[in-house]
Amino acid sequence: MAVVLRSLHFLILVYVSYIPLALTQDVNQFIYNGFHDQANVRLDGIAEIHSNGLLQLTNLSRQEVGRAFCHFPMKFNTTSSDLTSSLSFSTNFVFAIVPEVKNLGGHDISFTISPSRDFSHALLNRYLGLFNNSNNGLSTNHILAIELDTVSDPEFGDITMNHVGIDVNGMKSVASAPAMYFSNKEGKNINLDLMSGNPMHLWIDYDEAEKLLNVTLAPTTIPKPNRPLLSTHIDLSQILLESMYVGFSSATGTLASDHYILGWSFNKSGPSQSLGVSSLPPLPRERKRKDKPSLMIMTVLIAVTLVLITVIGAAYILRRKKYEEIREDWEEEYGPHRFSYKNLHKATKGFKDTELLGEGGFGKVYIGTLRSSNVQIAVKRISHDSKQGMKEFVAEIISMGRMRHRNLVQLLGYCRRRGELLLVYDYMPNGSLDRFLYSNEKTNLNWVQRFRIIKGVASGLLYLHEEWEQVVLHRDVKASNVLLDAGLNGRLGDFGLAKLYDHGTNPQTTRVVGTVGYLAPELTRTGRATTCSDVYAFGAFLLEVACGRRPIELQAEGLLEQVFLVDWVTECCRRGAILDTSDPRLEGNYVVEEMEMVLKLGLFCSHAIPACRPSMKQVVQFLDGDADLRELPYYSAYFGAFTSNESSDFMSVPFSQASAPSMSSTDSILRGGR
Ligand SMILES: *[C@@H]1O[C@H](CO)[C@@H](O)[C@H](O)[C@H]1NC(C)=O
Ligand SMILES: *[C@@H]1O[C@H](CO)[C@@H](O)[C@H](O)[C@H]1NC(C)=O
Ligand SMILES: *[C@@H]1O[C@H](CO)[C@@H](O)[C@H](O)[C@H]1NC(C)=O
Repeated sequence: MAVVLRSLHFLILVYVSYIPLALTQDVNQFIYNGFHDQANVRLDGIAEIHSNGLLQLTNLSRQEVGRAFCHFPMKFNTTSSDLTSSLSFSTNFVFAIVPEVKNLGGHDISFTISPSRDFSHALLNRYLGLFNNSNNGLSTNHILAIELDTVSDPEFGDITMNHVGIDVNGMKSVASAPAMYFSNKEGKNINLDLMSGNPMHLWIDYDEAEKLLNVTLAPTTIPKPNRPLLSTHIDLSQILLESMYVGFSSATGTLASDHYILGWSFNKSGPSQSLGVSSLPPLPRERKRKDKPSLMIMTVLIAVTLVLITVIGAAYILRRKKYEEIREDWEEEYGPHRFSYKNLHKATKGFKDTELLGEGGFGKVYIGTLRSSNVQIAVKRISHDSKQGMKEFVAEIISMGRMRHRNLVQLLGYCRRRGELLLVYDYMPNGSLDRFLYSNEKTNLNWVQRFRIIKGVASGLLYLHEEWEQVVLHRDVKASNVLLDAGLNGRLGDFGLAKLYDHGTNPQTTRVVGTVGYLAPELTRTGRATTCSDVYAFGAFLLEVACGRRPIELQAEGLLEQVFLVDWVTECCRRGAILDTSDPRLEGNYVVEEMEMVLKLGLFCSHAIPACRPSMKQVVQFLDGDADLRELPYYSAYFGAFTSNESSDFMSVPFSQASAPSMSSTDSILRGGR
């Protein structure tokens, strides 16, 4: 059953596909709306038919010819009275000429009626592939050609390089006209450019009775004009033979064009049928685009340029914004101290998290390497949202940059941006002291190293208080602000920064700056920092280094009194067992006199009454062994009491309550507490 159905289907297919072929072959007329399978033409030369039915006579190859002629000859000049064998004929076709170079075509398309399809003796180029120089013009040729010529050849009397001509037996046209069409609407002739690359319509009609040959040209967008372009009296009986082939011949020369025929209708026995212009195969796209290559390229170029300019401009603005700084006139004098943000940005790899050294009370600190000198630096980024007081602050910071002391971290310079101040310091490779004191790493500092650090920091603080041209308060002495250089010398960092908050830049913390556990009691009451309050903090620092404990250990496992380091040391001192408080990690490896002196000095500095604390000058003398603690006026009153177990006097001036600020009342106004 399936087999029968399939063969039936096949038979129907065969029948249907043969109908048009039968029609076209039978009578002396045909219509090809595109040259599909049923088109009965024979190709010659470089002519080819595209898969969409487009007939291409020539491409851009030079000195080539392409022809397409009807497979079978037509009866023209016979004695028979049959209408179809008269000399009359009618044809119309749609063609397109797409030149390689705009306005320079090569050479033509000609509709040709010829007794033979053999043009092997013909020359190309200006002879259009139809004649040669010896047979040109001879009446024995029996050739009629309607040429669509895009080359002007004066020898053949061509009128322009854009003309239509009627050629009889030779290249010299018997009639020709520049390409144009009659507009029925406007009632006048309108010029046409054969090489525009647009499809155009040509009608050729010959009336045997009137011996009149009409050639009519028009764009494909309008119907056949009422008036022909050429209307010429020719007696074809003198020219055509009985059996003639009709078709197209096209040639290229030193210049070449794509020559196309989109559709062709021919009738030997009446007016030729109209072509279905809309159903004709389209021209290849890329060649059409070549029409206006410069305009297209220009448009694209301009668009690309605009996009590029926009992108580069945006990138430039973003880059400007990225590295934007604030610079004011008054900063001129600090020239060498001013770093460009771009350099700092590059040095710290864009302030990448991997370059973060730590985060202190004032901001984040990044390690960096200056590109120009390969010097390592530490960059502190302080967020700062007011311009107010900035001038004074920067002036002070810069003047501190002139300080030179081996126990101070050297300030190299600064940079200012909107909402941000960047301070550039020497890089301290060994980090801060608290890392060594509290980390569980093996890198424990021995007593010799600790004592040297203590003496160094004391010397640095003394320099700030008394040896610099003006008194500079540190206001945040603590182990985490002591940095260690490559030789493990202690260096004070962050000095002077507290001033930033004195200039009213941060209203919430205008008054008290410092860290819980290091704040002198009077400081939390009055808010006024003095050298004495720095000494108090230094005392806490001494105990911290000697005992290896923070001033306030909230996680202390032991007794409540052990929460406050100074209380605990005082307590042990009272019991005559002050050495019990030494850092167990030292395992007793220390100079007893030094340890005892440091602990007692720490207590002394932590005295509740500012006036009872030693000055930094005295502190340095004690540490250097140039003075003895026992020479202090209150020494026996305090420490003598412990050793003799008569503690009443000392108890009247307790360290503990005074030294432990009420956390709740200070918390809110403190900055930088951990
Ligand atoms: C020109 O063409 C004719 C045939 O049309 C041929 O007989 C003749 O030899 C050709 N002459 C030359 C010079 O090729
Ligand atoms: C040729 O053109 C003339 C003038 O327009 C017209 O009178 C004549 O009928 C045309 N002949 C044919 C066959 O179209
Ligand atoms: C301190 O820094 C120096 C130089 O970077 C290094 O050689 C030394 O090992 C460091 N010391 C400690 C204890 O980390």
